[in-house]
Amino acid sequence: MQKNKIYIETYGCQMNLADSEIIMGILQNSGYSITQQMEDANVVFLNTCSIRDHAEQRIYGRLGNLKAIKSSKPDMIIGVLGCMAERLRKELIEEKKIVDIVVGPDEYRRIPEFIDVAFNGGKGIGVRLSRTETYDDIIPYREDGLQAWIAIMRGCDKFCTFCVVPFTRGRERSRPLQSIVLEIEQLSRRGFREVTLLGQNVNSYQDEQNDFANLLAACAVVDRRIRIRFTTSHPQDFSDKLIYTIAEHPNICSHIHLPVQSGSNRILEAMNRTYTVEHYLISIEKARKIIPGVSFSTDIIAGFPTETEEDHQMTLELMKLVRYDGAYMFKYSAREGTKAFKMGDDVPDEVKSRRLQEIISLQQQISFEINQTLLNNEEIILVEGFSRKSNDFLSGRTDSNKVVIIPFDEKIKEGSYAKVEINRVTHATLFGEFIELGDPVTLNLALTA
Ligand code: SAH
Ligand code: SF4
Ligand code: F3S
Repeated sequence: MQKNKIYIETYGCQMNLADSEIIMGILQNSGYSITQQMEDANVVFLNTCSIRDHAEQRIYGRLGNLKAIKSSKPDMIIGVLGCMAERLRKELIEEKKIVDIVVGPDEYRRIPEFIDVAFNGGKGIGVRLSRTETYDDIIPYREDGLQAWIAIMRGCDKFCTFCVVPFTRGRERSRPLQSIVLEIEQLSRRGFREVTLLGQNVNSYQDEQNDFANLLAACAVVDRRIRIRFTTSHPQDFSDKLIYTIAEHPNICSHIHLPVQSGSNRILEAMNRTYTVEHYLISIEKARKIIPGVSFSTDIIAGFPTETEEDHQMTLELMKLVRYDGAYMFKYSAREGTKAFKMGDDVPDEVKSRRLQEIISLQQQISFEINQTLLNNEEIILVEGFSRKSNDFLSGRTDSNKVVIIPFDEKIKEGSYAKVEINRVTHATLFGEFIELGDPVTLNLALTA
């Protein structure tokens, strides 16, 4: 019998992207083939996100499209995976007749079994959460490329009061350091040049005596040509040791994503974020002293329950103090089952929208001002390929995660490191001229000498 072809569509965060590669790895091991074209597939998976209501509405919309497709292709199996499968299993199973398979983040090993169940007319359902599953023995399915995601831990124990992740992904657990290092060695042999270590809270990584700083250092020495990025850092666990480790290794990127959520201590407490604005600012100040050229990005929520105009002003003030390079900014979305849900959703939508708009405008202005200070500077970029808009230009990113566009030059290959001079900026992009090629370590040393 011809084995089935799988198509998988991924929504949500980078963790879901990494999970989709694990899922495809599992399926390939079981003899399935992967296709990039939905029309060729007889099994279609949506790997879903529940973080805000909007994310779930998108999936319901997509299921509506799939219903139409399935009516002309009745043998097609449809599966919902990921956070929404975990959170809304009951609705999906009972109300969405077209859904044959529902699998949460910790039961992906059983997907081949569920596909068989579905082909035999049943529903394949696996939504148990695990305290130990890290998929550390699974080789993710990856196309050749430059950049890879590696999930170093799963779950979250923080229980921020607005957040569904602890419910959709279960308790926090770390993957063994050795298996992560081995994976980077394999990626190095395949020519990868950037690895992003992923976790909801990477700073609480722990494998026996090794903490996250130990892990970063071990990853950085595998291949100095490979840049190491990481996300997300929780402000509470952001240690001095980590700051020194980032500073010590030229190929650990000096970009830190440190979500603050709000600039009001009262709101931070109601969110159960477990730090104060003052504590947060001290971490930023320390990192700036010790890591040359460090850049920061953040996440901000507008309109958390009980947020007053004064609280909102404090968030704007904090943004002016820190001056983030970039930010992800969201309107609060009440999630059933979370603690904040019980606080009510008392900030009217038009107020949330206005506050969010003020936050976005301020951030754009700050990003533009920061980028302007880079004019005429020399930067090192990892060249990723043609720019999105034109094949006359190449696109790369700096250590601090800023996109730089330079004119095409045949000397520059995808995956090379180039020294460039910045000559024009917007709030989102830098433009420059190519100076010379080189490897990141020597270029970095040359620039700091
Ligand atoms: N673990 C990471 C982020 C996980 S979710 C961390 O702790 O920072 C990514 C971002 O989505 C969060 O930082 C938060 O800003 C936002 N978010 C999470 N739940 C939300 C909700 N209910 N409404 C609006 N934004 C939310
Ligand atoms: Fe959600 Fe907070 Fe965990 Fe981040 S740290 S995933 S916001 S509970
Ligand atoms: Fe969404 Fe789950 Fe990630 S809720 S943001 S896909 S952890």
